[in-house]
Amino acid sequence: MEEFLGFDDVVIVPGRSPVEPSSVDITGQATRNIVLSIPVISSPMDTVTEWRMAALIARLGGLGVIHRNMSIESQIDNIVRVKNSVPSIWSEIIKIGVDERFDIVELRMREAGVDAGIVMSKQGFHGIFIRYGADYEYWANKVDSLVKLASLIKPMPTIDEDGRLRVGAAISPFDIERAKRLSKAGVDVLVVDVAHLHNVNVLSSLRKLVREVEAEVVAGNLGTREGVLDTLATVEDIAGLRMGIASGSICITGEVSGTAVPTLTAVMKAREALQEIGLQGKIPIIADGGIRNPGDAAKAIIAGASSVMVGRVLAGAEEAPTPKVTIGDRVYKPYRGMASRGAMERRYASDRYSKPSKAVVEGVEGLVPYSGSAVNSIAHMAFGLQAALGYAGAANLREAWNSKLARITPSGSKEIKPHDLVI
Ligand code: XMP
Repeated sequence: MEEFLGFDDVVIVPGRSPVEPSSVDITGQATRNIVLSIPVISSPMDTVTEWRMAALIARLGGLGVIHRNMSIESQIDNIVRVKNSVPSIWSEIIKIGVDERFDIVELRMREAGVDAGIVMSKQGFHGIFIRYGADYEYWANKVDSLVKLASLIKPMPTIDEDGRLRVGAAISPFDIERAKRLSKAGVDVLVVDVAHLHNVNVLSSLRKLVREVEAEVVAGNLGTREGVLDTLATVEDIAGLRMGIASGSICITGEVSGTAVPTLTAVMKAREALQEIGLQGKIPIIADGGIRNPGDAAKAIIAGASSVMVGRVLAGAEEAPTPKVTIGDRVYKPYRGMASRGAMERRYASDRYSKPSKAVVEGVEGLVPYSGSAVNSIAHMAFGLQAALGYAGAANLREAWNSKLARITPSGSKEIKPHDLVI
């Protein structure tokens, strides 16, 4: 039998590094045409990505994919809102005078719809005033993630030819009407959102769909070399591959059906398939599911990915379309799989074209700790990726594809985690 490796089964082999981590270029790709200065894509899930998250991530140089648990009209509305958002990250920030009254600042922030203000005194930068929903926090003389990100990485917003933010939308391969209308409304990329794309009916429907739309189409999810080869042989003009089966943090597909291809392995399979037909590096591979930290993202990239898709990493963020939940003195946000009972019920209620294709639930619902603005998580991913690729001896993603991963033994794996501390 073959062996399928997961992120924890491998480590990055340190390599001779030509540059300092802070100069590592982490520019990646979501599709053939969409370049990302931070190669992170937010998952199309109803607890992660609506227009606010998508606009913020695109401003930071990533990409958001609007989920499809809503009517076509609402999904179009979300797309239009992102397209009409100011592309600069600084639109998230207003300038505040050090003597300004709190109630006036609060009003100004609400009116401008921003969540942060840079407080300036005569001497210059004084601090940052942040709004988290109804709460405010003041960070005096503390450089916030956004400022750090902007000064260190200088992210370029992900924009189209007209200078407008780019955005993706999730679709079912059977919903050609939705795909056509989203494409007409100006969506940049349609991301196929099915658990098992490698199905004859699904592929033949996708083949028709792709011919009807102008937007690029990312195909997924897939986990095998054969799946990728069949998809590319059946459907023309695939702009990206979404790889990983059953690795998501909220996923129980592996448990319910015994089926899985861990994301790291799925990425390696896609790379193998693309190499075979001379398309490696031409069709971007998106590693989707199970990415917990920059180390996992870097392993996926070394395995051949051009970007990573994350749900859990962003689910606790202020910009996720979920309410905060307070239990005792802790604050959380809900996070659930799109094949969980709650998410499926919402889908059938909001989209009359959507029919249950299977009777089993394949996702769970839970809570994750509230994590402030998504800027924090994205900055952490960006700096961590630079560090990881620095260790790997790569100055950019293309070089990272030639870096090495090694399998680690169970005792090695134990050794590299914190151990033997009493307190
Ligand atoms: P993370 O680990 O980032 O994974 O939370 C997000 C990815 O998980 C997939 N997804 C699901 N997979 N059942 C599944 O088997 C589900 O209910 C489900 N919901 C999302 C999806 O690929 C997402 O990007």
